[in-house]
Formats: sequence, structure tokens, C-alpha cells
Amino acid sequence: EIILSDELKKQAALAAMSEVKSGMRIGLGTGSTAKHFVDYLGAEVAKGFECLCVPTSIATMQQAQALNIPLTTLDEIDRLDVTVDGADEIDEQMQLIKGGGGALLREKIVAAASDKMVVIADTSKLVETLGKFALPIEVNKFGLGATQNAVSDVMQQTGAEGGLVLRQSDGKPFETDGGHFILDASFGRISNAQTVSEKLLNVPGVVQHGLFLGLCAKAYLADATGVKQLG
Ligand code: A5P
Repeated sequence: EIILSDELKKQAALAAMSEVKSGMRIGLGTGSTAKHFVDYLGAEVAKGFECLCVPTSIATMQQAQALNIPLTTLDEIDRLDVTVDGADEIDEQMQLIKGGGGALLREKIVAAASDKMVVIADTSKLVETLGKFALPIEVNKFGLGATQNAVSDVMQQTGAEGGLVLRQSDGKPFETDGGHFILDASFGRISNAQTVSEKLLNVPGVVQHGLFLGLCAKAYLADATGVKQLG
């Protein structure tokens, strides 16, 4: 089943190659699906395809470097033509939950700096209502307890069904590329994503959260019957 799902991720990644043209500035996503896209892009670069790319994580940067994909930063260029990235959940309105891999802050900065954000995934990520996947919330290390309490209050106010956990990795709190922690918030259902987003961003210790609203313009979603397109 893992092999099948990886094959679907590959098909979605391949379909998104139609979004890139030689000469473009491209944002490179993070995660197992985006990894396939970076592999396909690397194969094109080896054949002379020209691009300038901004990776959304250290992991993606290292993968792209190994493939000789030309990289830059958002200090050197301020806009990108397109960003191709995965998602943990996507609904029919192309609202997303991201951050399962912990890269949500850079992913959101890069997506917002792009003329177009394209999501690639297998159809298991398509949901009617966001929130079954726990919402990743990136928080500053300072004042963690106070931030946790404030986030729990927001969850209560917005009808969350589950709790809040500090993400762990190897017995220690997981640390993001930016040196922050991640709280995973089990909402169950997020009926008003905009309200949840605004309330979370109002908490001083919250650096960013994994709700991507109004950012995704197109999605390629693969299942056994083919690749379906949203947007
Ligand atoms: C990384 O922080 C995430 O936003 C990923 O984009 C997301 O977890 C999707 O990853 P997969 O493609 O591995 O499912």
C-alpha cells in the first residue's frame, strides 16, 4: 500500500511539471510528494532546463543541491512564478492544512511570495472539512506554557474536539528549521478556517500556523484512476 501511495504521489508530481517553463523562478515544497517533484525538476535541469529556485526547508535545499538545481533566496529575488508543494489536507475550496513535516513557516512565506501555488497530493488528502489532521502551529520557544494556554483557549472558542500536544522527535521537542517548536492541535473539524486563523495569529507566541487560506490556486490529486485537477 505504501508503494501504491508513493506511485500516486509521483503521478501528481509529474502532472505538476506542466506548470513550469524554462526560465521560471520556482518555489520548492517539502515532504514526500514534493520530493518527487524536485527529482523530476532535477532531471530536466540535467537536460538544460533553466530555473532559479527557493527551497522551503533545509531538507529540500540539500536534495536540490545534490541535483544541481540552481538555488536562490527571497533576499535576492522577491517574487516567484510558481511554488509546487504537498499538503496534509486539502478541501474543494483549496484551503489547506500543511506542516506535517514541520516546514509550514517557510512553506507559507514562499507560497505567499509566488504568483501561483500548486498543490500535489494523492486523493487521500482531499477532505470535505479540514481538521481531522491535527493543525500544526509553530510557536516561539519563549513563553511556551503561556502560548499553549492561549492556543487551548482559541481551540475551545472555535469548537475543537481534541487536545493540543507539543510535537516530539527522538524524545525531545521537535525543532523547526527556524528554531521554533510545533504544537499539534486536534480540531476534529474546522468549520470556520478564517476565524481559527485570525485567532491563532492573535496569540503573541504563535509564529505561524498550517492553515493555508487563499494561497493555493491549483491542485493535482492522483488516485488509481488518474490525476484530477482542482482550480
Ligand atoms: C511539510 O511541512 C508539509 O507541509 C508537507 O507539505 C506535508 O506534510 C505533505 O507531505 P507529504 O507529501 O509527505 O504527505
